[in-house]
Amino acid sequence: MRSLNLFLVSLLLSSLASGVGGWCYDSMSPDCGPSTWPRDHPKCAGSGQSPIDILTKEAKPDPKLSDITFKGYIDPDKSLDWTLYNDGHSVQLILNGSITISGGMLPGTYKADHLHFHWGTDSSPGSEHTIDGMQFPMEMHIVHLNQNYHSKQEALKHPDGLAVVGIMFVESDSDAKDYNFIQYLKHVKNHNDKYTIKPFSLENMIPNDLSKSRVYYRYQGSLTTPTCNEAVIWTVYKEPIPLSKDQLNAFPKILHYNESSRIVSNFRSIQKLNGRTVNVFNSGSLLFRLNLLMCVVGIQALLLFN
Ligand SMILES: *[C@@H]1O[C@H](CO)[C@@H](O)[C@H](O)[C@H]1NC(C)=O
Ligand SMILES: *[C@@H]1O[C@H](CO)[C@@H](O)[C@H](O)[C@H]1NC(C)=O
Ligand SMILES: [Zn+2]
Repeated sequence: MRSLNLFLVSLLLSSLASGVGGWCYDSMSPDCGPSTWPRDHPKCAGSGQSPIDILTKEAKPDPKLSDITFKGYIDPDKSLDWTLYNDGHSVQLILNGSITISGGMLPGTYKADHLHFHWGTDSSPGSEHTIDGMQFPMEMHIVHLNQNYHSKQEALKHPDGLAVVGIMFVESDSDAKDYNFIQYLKHVKNHNDKYTIKPFSLENMIPNDLSKSRVYYRYQGSLTTPTCNEAVIWTVYKEPIPLSKDQLNAFPKILHYNESSRIVSNFRSIQKLNGRTVNVFNSGSLLFRLNLLMCVVGIQALLLFN
């Protein structure tokens, strides 16, 4: 009996030490940080992992890539509910309703499941992907599931199961107006806190300004947290969203994983490319080609009518 009790106590202690869900970031404890993930989650030691450092000069332009079509982002169904959730590793906004992406050589339509963030501390950056070695203050992941699979569990078994859109944030001098999302963080301060919110326009969370040139990087990778399934078609936008220092700092300041400790530096370090190709789409080069065409047509018309 005594040894059983001891056994149960040691089991309890070891589960406490190993963080929420059995894994953590080094900022919480090196005992359950990323280098230990493969122990319980062998896929984390795979050869097609995320995040990666995106080398812009090595990225291959692919003329078959095109703009991603975002549907239901600007005008979500207000009769539904969304849930904000502190999962102990990050903050998730669990979406609801028909919000999808397609196009851009995605093999089908992908339905938005949730979005979450990766950040640093109030003085160090925390994006997961880096671009030419540069780490951004924060990165958002909008996680979408391939509609051809009937569940998330099923989608996680296929290389085209998930499409995740990565969007970077940079620090700017002024508050980004209408960045509604941050005001809700105080309602999910503690691990497992949930807060219901009415759907709002995600307009300022996606690259939707068609007058600007859009550049994104595309590669095949994985979830950046256990279980690290290599089931993700990644789309990482080059253009960051500007937020003020106060807006960025709200994440490491407010969100906790236990009563005394805040969620900070919740990013995985960059993984080896191992021969994978990173493709690049640039809407600007498309516009340039279109302008060139118009120009040639114009000159020919001039010659013809003179
Ligand atoms: C919070 O977690 C840290 C380990 O990261 C631990 O040292 C601390 O005692 C925990 N605090 C509480 C109140 O559980
Ligand atoms: C979606 O919204 C409906 C209606 O408010 C709600 O009953 C349901 O729980 C929501 N689903 C999720 C996954 O949040
Ligand atoms: Zn993520």
